[in-house]
Amino acid sequence: MSNVKKAEGKLGVMVVGLGAVTSTFMTGVLMARKGLAKPVGSMTQYDKIRVGEGENKKYLKYNEIVPIADLNDIVFGAWDVYPANAYESAINAEVLKEKDINPVKEELEAIKPLKAAFDKNYAARLDGDNVKQCKDRWDMAQQIREDIRKFKEENGVDRVVVLWAASTEVYVPVDEKIHGTVEALEAAMKADDKEHIAPSMCYAYAALKEGAPFIMGAPNTTVDIPAMWQLAEETKMPIAGKDFKTGQTLVKSGFAPIIGTRCLGLSGWFSTNILGNRDGLVLDEPANFRTKEVSKLSTLESILVPEEQPDLYTDYYHKVRINYYPPRNDNKEGWDNIDIFGWMGYPMQIKINFLCRDSILAAPLCLDLVLLSDLAARSGRYGIQRFLSFFLKSPMHDYTKGEVPVNHLFQQYVMLKNAIREMGGYKADELID
Ligand SMILES: NC(=O)c1ccc[n+]([C@@H]2O[C@H](COP(=O)([O-])OP(=O)(O)OC[C@H]3O[C@@H](n4cnc5c(N)ncnc54)[C@H](O)[C@@H]3O)[C@@H](O)[C@H]2O)c1
Repeated sequence: MSNVKKAEGKLGVMVVGLGAVTSTFMTGVLMARKGLAKPVGSMTQYDKIRVGEGENKKYLKYNEIVPIADLNDIVFGAWDVYPANAYESAINAEVLKEKDINPVKEELEAIKPLKAAFDKNYAARLDGDNVKQCKDRWDMAQQIREDIRKFKEENGVDRVVVLWAASTEVYVPVDEKIHGTVEALEAAMKADDKEHIAPSMCYAYAALKEGAPFIMGAPNTTVDIPAMWQLAEETKMPIAGKDFKTGQTLVKSGFAPIIGTRCLGLSGWFSTNILGNRDGLVLDEPANFRTKEVSKLSTLESILVPEEQPDLYTDYYHKVRINYYPPRNDNKEGWDNIDIFGWMGYPMQIKINFLCRDSILAAPLCLDLVLLSDLAARSGRYGIQRFLSFFLKSPMHDYTKGEVPVNHLFQQYVMLKNAIREMGGYKADELID
């Protein structure tokens, strides 16, 4: 039997960034609550996992194995640089049709963004004025902590999860001297070290300090630093990241195993995209794209590993491009050209053309990451949550202990299923379902 604490009371979901992804996520949850839409793509709402063996084998939905919070118990909050409420944001984003937004207009209008903890140097293309005045980075974190406390009080919520679905920040390389320990991180915040302390780090710090799990949905360095893992251990809070695995990288992490499993060779993989939403605009800035590139490139390296199969995977050329192209808005188009080789080295090509919808793919991940982080917290799991790698492009792992990320989609799925089984009081296993 599961010994996880029940999901009693309301669950506060505070999202950093109230743009295309967040407004699509919120609208979908509110519509599903009214029975007016289906949360398609969400593992926590649809997937069934086998538990038990032989005669005792059963396929159960997640909430039949572990206590998952009910969609009716979610209360949304948000921060954004722009003052638009969730309804205005959903309309502006043009992801959903008005007929799919209007039935929950009132609920969406009530979600007004709190002032953002923001620094223009981290996203030069944004220009909103719904921004906190902060003395220094320490003050920034304290103001966010205050927001979380107030939100809990005003909404009668005792559990909160904080999810980053805000723009990608410029690339912040890890600096052990500053990011290595909580003490060093706090000292840098107090010294107002703007270069090493991104606003996202202040959100993550504040969330963990307030006893809220933190999830990083963008490729920012935020959670990839030992100081944040130490803080998550100290506060006994789950932490997960980074970068929602939605379109092209989902395809890559599902398709690369075909090449690897059949011992075919790879000489090159070129991925390019066109995208016209605000995310695309921010990523058009080279310093912001760098953050995304690092995250996107890491996927193949741990699935098709040159050191393990030098004949097949040495020196393959891997390139990822994102091009800002306004006419397509949120409807991203991705092309993958894959040069493989087979028997006696003879070359072949595979082309994949994915016409996807970015926020439609990201919304169910937001829901699953939020619900599963809350579950993890109630089950006493804290620190890096590797079982959430399934949802993320560049999964967190403790590189100081020699851990490597698991990017292979089907291995990630085994990790996810086993974590649910264990939290449900069943044995983790790798039997064929
Ligand atoms: N949609 C996808 O498929 C996908 C996949 C992976 C990652 N992501 C990431 O998710 C994030 C959100 O994507 P989107 O399409 O909703 O972008 P968006 O531009 O529509 O929304 C982001 C919002 O964040 C706000 N913001 C920026 N900095 C902030 C701060 N410091 N505090 C509060 N708000 C802030 C912006 O004002 C904006 O409204 C991006 O970082 C994107 O890279 C999206």
